[in-house]
Amino acid sequence: MELIPAPRAIEGPTRCGVLLDRETALVAAPGTGTTERWLRSTLGGALGLPLPPGAEDSRNSVRLRLDDTLEPEAYKLSAIVNWGVEIRGGSAAGVFWGAQTLRQLLGPEAFRRAPVRPGAGHGIPHQIIEDAPRFPWRGLMLDVARHFMPKDGVLRYLDLMAAHKLNVFHFHLTDDQGWRLEIERYPRLTEVGSWRARTRFGHRASPLWEEKPHGGFYTHEDIREIVAYAADRHITVVPEIDMPGHSQAAIAAYPELGNRDVVDTDSLTVWDDWGISRNVLAPTGNTLRFYEDVLEEVLELFPSDFIHIGGDECAKDQWRKSPAAQARIAELGLADEDGLQAWFIRHFDTWLGARGRRLIGWDEILEGGRRAGERTPAADGEEGLRESRAPKGETTALGLTDGAAVSSWRGYAGGITAARAGHDVVMCPEQQVYLDHRQDGGADEPVPIGYVRTLEDVYCFEPVPPQLTEEEARHVLGTQANVWTEVMEDQSRVDYQTFPRLAAFAEVAWSALPAPGDRDFADFERRMTVHYRRLDALGVAYRPPAGPRPWQRRPGVLGRPIEGAPPNV
Ligand code: ACM
Repeated sequence: MELIPAPRAIEGPTRCGVLLDRETALVAAPGTGTTERWLRSTLGGALGLPLPPGAEDSRNSVRLRLDDTLEPEAYKLSAIVNWGVEIRGGSAAGVFWGAQTLRQLLGPEAFRRAPVRPGAGHGIPHQIIEDAPRFPWRGLMLDVARHFMPKDGVLRYLDLMAAHKLNVFHFHLTDDQGWRLEIERYPRLTEVGSWRARTRFGHRASPLWEEKPHGGFYTHEDIREIVAYAADRHITVVPEIDMPGHSQAAIAAYPELGNRDVVDTDSLTVWDDWGISRNVLAPTGNTLRFYEDVLEEVLELFPSDFIHIGGDECAKDQWRKSPAAQARIAELGLADEDGLQAWFIRHFDTWLGARGRRLIGWDEILEGGRRAGERTPAADGEEGLRESRAPKGETTALGLTDGAAVSSWRGYAGGITAARAGHDVVMCPEQQVYLDHRQDGGADEPVPIGYVRTLEDVYCFEPVPPQLTEEEARHVLGTQANVWTEVMEDQSRVDYQTFPRLAAFAEVAWSALPAPGDRDFADFERRMTVHYRRLDALGVAYRPPAGPRPWQRRPGVLGRPIEGAPPNV
């Protein structure tokens, strides 16, 4: 069958098979409730199957059970003539991934929301599938700061992730151009920080402006709903609160967070342009306390082990000019502004560790490593600093706690350095898996930016660099595709950039290779012909293989299609 991502092993299939109809029962053993609910609501809804509860020995049934001989996310799906369907999973998640495979076996109609052939039975060929993921971190990052995606769109993306067996949703919630998370203690973050008066239409060189306010944010209830919806799909939501750079929206809301001795932060607004804002957080005790308060609410809302604190692209010129920042460097015994950035990150590394969570940050968190004589945040004695206990684990040679992890985006180098020092790593190099990059070199690509990265390029991406030993490679938790939305003004633009490449990415993240470099793109393309019909049924506005449809083009809107240039600069 044309499964995406490809499973480890399929025995069969044969032509005769199993028919699911209105009589088919759903028999769910203890521990399989998420899949039971999902099958009834989603698959049952699509195909008009009531899937009533039934007896264990019912032949016309779909049976779900846990099997502790399987790896946690592994599953075994058996569709046997005169016996029915059984999905065994090594955990509740494994059963759920098996149900995603069952949906694909049932054909594109299974991806609709209501039956197009009411009363029809639905057959699947006789076969046995054994499957398990290559990586435990199969991620998608969505930037809802540059362009806000309303809650319904986020829930839809969680469904799209589940359909591709992706399990980590990295939620980029704050940036220069918008703060999208309600913080009860600091209401101006959303009152002021969640909208901008206008937006540049196109990349930085574009002379066009969308002269209307853009904004939106998620309330605590929205977030609780999103997190619960994700958990029901065995997806972990990892929130990102970006600091100390990419913080202009926060500074516009609370001017005291900025470097007031060198900029008039009272007159700052949420940024309406693209690039890296020079307006970064002031390295003061007040800023640390403010962000601790923010993170306290974040920890309440997001149960994930990992909390992403950004750390990327922190422009240092204000710190260089600011007497207060320079005094801070001297007081802390740091060498320079890079040390200040490292001090900032490490504060939250220990702060999160003390609360049983783990910091993850972009690979810049590896810069400005601790130098002899530098005092730890816990020892700096600043009045008012919240408790900042030593981490439970060790501090590595890179000056971070050993629980800290790195999102390696500027190529593989950061990930290699981090893995060698004993840190876990998520590989998401911009050269390969930044889905804001154009997917074809042609003139019709809408607002083309960055590198040309085709479906085949993404399909051939290898997350584990060959330089790592087997031991070091164990630190590669997995991989993640990143969707930055400067030039994606709405959901259809996000769909266009993300699909079909996310399907190729899902196979990279899930399906182990027989040997390194052994991907068969021709076979993937063949399977994609069926997958496009699934995406059609789901209502995904993907890029067709022949190029954009007329309404997917943006003639005359400038991007930044410069080969070799980073897209966000
Ligand atoms: C990034 O692309 N600035 C992580």
